[in-house]
Amino acid sequence: METTVPKRRDKKSLRVKVISLGNAEVGKSCIIKRYCEKRFVPKYLATIGIDYGVTKVQVRDREIKVNIFDMAGHPFFYEVRNEFYKDSQGVLLVYDVGVRESFEALDSWLGEMKQEMGSQANMDSIVFIVCANKVDLTKRRVVDEGEGRLWAESRGFHYFETSAQSGEGINEMFQAFFSSITDMCENGGKRPVSEVSVGFTKEQADTIRRIRNSKDSWDMLGVKPGATREEVNKAYRKLAVLLHPDKCVAPGSEDAFKAVVNARTSLLKNIK
Ligand code: GTP
Ligand code: MG
Repeated sequence: METTVPKRRDKKSLRVKVISLGNAEVGKSCIIKRYCEKRFVPKYLATIGIDYGVTKVQVRDREIKVNIFDMAGHPFFYEVRNEFYKDSQGVLLVYDVGVRESFEALDSWLGEMKQEMGSQANMDSIVFIVCANKVDLTKRRVVDEGEGRLWAESRGFHYFETSAQSGEGINEMFQAFFSSITDMCENGGKRPVSEVSVGFTKEQADTIRRIRNSKDSWDMLGVKPGATREEVNKAYRKLAVLLHPDKCVAPGSEDAFKAVVNARTSLLKNIK
């Protein structure tokens, strides 16, 4: 008698589209090259418009075919880039930890993307990974881990420290990226909620960032120079409620809270 062994059915393979974004020269192409070709090119070869490549990866029992669109960061290529934002499931947002401007530009990269996607701009259906790149160049580093992580995680994005030069963080970052995209596709195209809820609010994260970058104590408390005791105390109480370490788990909240306490003390000393 013939017996039929039921065939193991693999889940259907997935096709996904990912794009890389970030200022020119931050290392987008090198990160992709390090992952796909396991090599590093020290000479800067600016991407002209877009580079396209395909790679296959295995996530659990699924084969994923990844179409990678590596964008040029130079403003000159805006007209070429804007065609390619649509229908992406994943975005690599890259900055250079040695160039503050490239970190501060991340918001405008998100802005360009939203604008070009128009009515399609449903950012909850896209997995974002922030790569703090060139961590091998420790001496020239100006954006620390806390600041980068805070920016990323307060938006529900993953954060990885990477070096295309040494390979640090690259495989881990891509594994997390592809596995999250697969989770999202299996979750009906929505980013799973657990990734988004990080235990602190965007307001808390933005406030910590503002405090870190404030130029003096007045600025830190968000009051005008020459403000009264009452105004200083009112601003202090608002920040204390928002950032008190018992209530706020955002990275850097403790330092920000201490800075606010010190700012208030030094201002009150000089106000009659
Ligand atoms: P555009 O295509 O112009 O947008 O730039 P890009 O972001 O693709 O930068 P690219 O990958 O071409 O790298 C720019 C320069 O930085 C090159 O000289 C790379 O060798 C160098 N580079 C990239 N990643 C790293 C890194 O992790 N460490 C170090 N030390 N250098 C890096
Ligand atoms: Mg490039």
